[in-house]
Amino acid sequence: MSAGDKLRLGVLGSGRGTNLDAIFRALHDRAIPAEVKVVLSDVRDAGILHIGRSHRVHTKYVYPGESPFRLDEASEHNISNALHHEQVELVILAGFMRIIGPELLAAYPRRILNIHPSLLPKHPGLRAWEQALAAGDTVAGCTVHYVDQGVDSGEIIAQAEVDVMPDDTPEALHARIQHAEHVLYPEVIDHFARNRPFAG
Ligand code: GRF
Repeated sequence: MSAGDKLRLGVLGSGRGTNLDAIFRALHDRAIPAEVKVVLSDVRDAGILHIGRSHRVHTKYVYPGESPFRLDEASEHNISNALHHEQVELVILAGFMRIIGPELLAAYPRRILNIHPSLLPKHPGLRAWEQALAAGDTVAGCTVHYVDQGVDSGEIIAQAEVDVMPDDTPEALHARIQHAEHVLYPEVIDHFARNRPFAG
């Protein structure tokens, strides 16, 4: 397989970027036929941008607009342009904290994935591990799903479970879920890279 056959990924994140780090490691260690072409963030100094740079990938901060929850039209357009410029085929949300708008959804139908730290449809939204503890769940986990116009509401692709321990703190449960994320997301990307399950 030549380098040109690799699935071209664009990654969006707002935080530390531990999922992106795990993805880079898996692409290399497991020879997954995919490559990260660009890393974009709505947070100027986000760790995920540093991780992208340390892997010599093009990174860019995109001013997101005034709303803390959404991208404004201009920022969505900027992100869309940056993804198209790198001919991105699959968009990976890795801790991106804003709702994706209509322009990006239309540009990448069933080609935008997200990872969420719960067994969806349980506990969408923020701090899902705390929601799991408050609900008294004995099993928690993470979900990779397609992104739609809602919050953590798109079709589920894959899930991984972790046990909730009787004496779990939010921090301990969150760390266990993140560890599961770092295995699950690369597995899903591997599947997409090898099987290209795209409609068009
Ligand atoms: C992950 O826990 C993911 O589930 C959520 O945001 C977090 C991002 O973490 N959507 P990181 O930036 O990959 O460390």
